Amino acid sequence: MSLSKSSEIKLRDMKVPEDYEQLTSLLNMIDPGSTTAQSIEEEDRQIPTVSNLKMNEDGLLAGFGRTRVVAEDDKGQIIGYGASFRAPWVEPGNLGSVFCVHPDFRRKGIGGKILAHLENWANEHHASVLSSIVMDWIDDSLPFVQNRGFVVDAHIFDLELDLNQFNNAKYGDTVEQVIQSGIQLTTLADLTRVETETELYELCVETAKDNPGQYSSLPPFEQWRKEFLPEANSRKEWVFLAIDGDRLIGVSQLFSTEDEGVLYTNYTGILKEYRGRGIAKALKLRSIEAAMKAGAHTLTTDSEEKNAPMQLINRSLGYIPGKGHYRILKKLRK
Ligand SMILES: CC(C)(COP(=O)(O)OP(=O)(O)OC[C@H]1O[C@@H](n2cnc3c(N)ncnc32)[C@H](O)[C@@H]1OP(=O)(O)O)[C@@H](O)C(=O)NCCC(=O)NCCS
Repeated sequence: MSLSKSSEIKLRDMKVPEDYEQLTSLLNMIDPGSTTAQSIEEEDRQIPTVSNLKMNEDGLLAGFGRTRVVAEDDKGQIIGYGASFRAPWVEPGNLGSVFCVHPDFRRKGIGGKILAHLENWANEHHASVLSSIVMDWIDDSLPFVQNRGFVVDAHIFDLELDLNQFNNAKYGDTVEQVIQSGIQLTTLADLTRVETETELYELCVETAKDNPGQYSSLPPFEQWRKEFLPEANSRKEWVFLAIDGDRLIGVSQLFSTEDEGVLYTNYTGILKEYRGRGIAKALKLRSIEAAMKAGAHTLTTDSEEKNAPMQLINRSLGYIPGKGHYRILKKLRK
């Protein structure tokens, strides 16, 4: 798109469906291949159009709500975007947000204007904390938010494993040792217990509490199920499970991605009392084996910088770190 740099910039509410295409171009210009107009529209369809934000009995913001604005130049071209939102299951008091500015229009005060709008909206609704993310590969992003009172809460980045270079023999009898210790390794496809999905949900809720990459608690079961077992890119045979007796104690799960031959590890979690016994590594080795059988050439995942066990497992399997983002928080009131 051709853009005039001297344009008058104004903020206005996002219009749907009119803005989908231009917003998609902006988001993909900043992070290529990150979204489609269709996926934004689909996501919108799942979200109520009317907010019901309210204060709960503890005086903290609760319920659902969101605001979305675009920055537009005098030719009507969208050169910036900001949204603030909360889902009903998120920690009371918290609001999330995202914002971005077209690279040719940075350092002109547009980002500051968008962020100020989001912060005003959060303050009008008496939110306690405004959270957001900034990419670690965009210069100036972190200082920009730090100058506006945000602090870094987490640093989450991608990791990639080249399966063509992967040498299974190097990991010797890791899987065998876990099985010898009495732990059964299986998949969701092979487990036919009716209650498995609820057990899996409880396992994820419990283990996610120790994941520094996890912000707030997991959504309720139905919402979690949509996110954890999406029809489009999950398969029951790609949910690798560890079982002790009849107790589900660990999981590692693969998703397919839009990129041919690339699979993504969505989540790995082991119950606290079973950690440090090589179970996560064994499940990941099982998932690597399945990925290779499925013809994948690359496995990706993401993990928080301070997640020592997960970082160690990934590095020891040969994953190479890549781009990521900082999760940032601003305290608005006590
Ligand atoms: C991350 C997690 C899945 C690891 O499970 P685990 O079964 O204890 O991991 P393993 O026993 O297979 O450990 C594998 C390696 O990590 C090392 N490790 C395990 N815990 C560690 C710790 N607390 N600090 C440092 N190293 C650790 C082990 O020594 C082992 O190293 P090695 O391969 O060189 O022998 C588990 O800690 C967990 O469920 N955490 C909460 C959920 C989470 O953060 N998931 C990741 C989301 S990205």
